[in-house]
Amino acid sequence: MSIDIGGMRKAYMGKEEVFTEEQLVSREPFEQFRNWFDIASKTPGIGEPNAMCLATATKNGLPSARMVLLKGYGPSGFKFFTNYKSRKASELYENPHASLNFYWEPLKRCVRIEGHVEKLSTEESTEYFMSRPENSRIGAIVSPQSQPIPSRDYLSEKQTDLTKLAEEKSDQICKPEHWGGYIVIPHTVEFWQGQTSRLHDRIRFRKLKPGEKPDKTVVHEGDNGWVYERLAP
Ligand SMILES: Cc1cc2nc3c(=O)[nH]c(=O)nc-3n(C[C@H](O)[C@H](O)[C@H](O)COP(=O)(O)O)c2cc1C
Repeated sequence: MSIDIGGMRKAYMGKEEVFTEEQLVSREPFEQFRNWFDIASKTPGIGEPNAMCLATATKNGLPSARMVLLKGYGPSGFKFFTNYKSRKASELYENPHASLNFYWEPLKRCVRIEGHVEKLSTEESTEYFMSRPENSRIGAIVSPQSQPIPSRDYLSEKQTDLTKLAEEKSDQICKPEHWGGYIVIPHTVEFWQGQTSRLHDRIRFRKLKPGEKPDKTVVHEGDNGWVYERLAP
């Protein structure tokens, strides 16, 4: 039996909250992201504004998606950390492209990012790893992420052993080789603002394709090599 939830519908923004090109704080996506992310970070009811859905795909194009935490962003891209032996990592190894999606429900705002992915340097990954609380570091070491394991006890025993070892020799709790960060270097960043009318606002920044001659009636020149355009919802 399938359950019908087609009637679930919530009011979004009023007409006065439309998102227009004039309201962009920047004509490139990173400052615009910073503005929306800062607002999301201060909005009550958004527990983890940096939680994002990360989609990857195998080299044959079979997709998979999961949540991860954004740990840094700027003109170079969007950073997250994980296990380099995980499913996402093996997909990124064979197909180094990803898509990120944030949804800040109380604001009815979504940001959608697509780009090429590279590993962060060992130095940067180590610096971040060592900044994490000890129990998080232990968790990252003991968990063979994405692999089948016999039981929960299998992990808690490894965790207990390593916690004991850390009490004696805290320098043992250093970054394993198979753990580190990635950066998504975007070619496309879309800002979506939901509207009650369902005429949602979508403004997409993108890099032009080589040789592309954009239609200037819909594609506007931005800064730092970006263009932006409004998409139908
Ligand atoms: C809110 C949230 C944040 C998460 N953050 C991370 C993260 O930053 N890094 C990570 O490896 N897994 C994170 N996870 C766990 C992943 O969603 C996922 O279970 C894990 O990375 C294994 O994914 P994979 O098997 O597709 O590689 C998070 C889960 C949630 C719900």
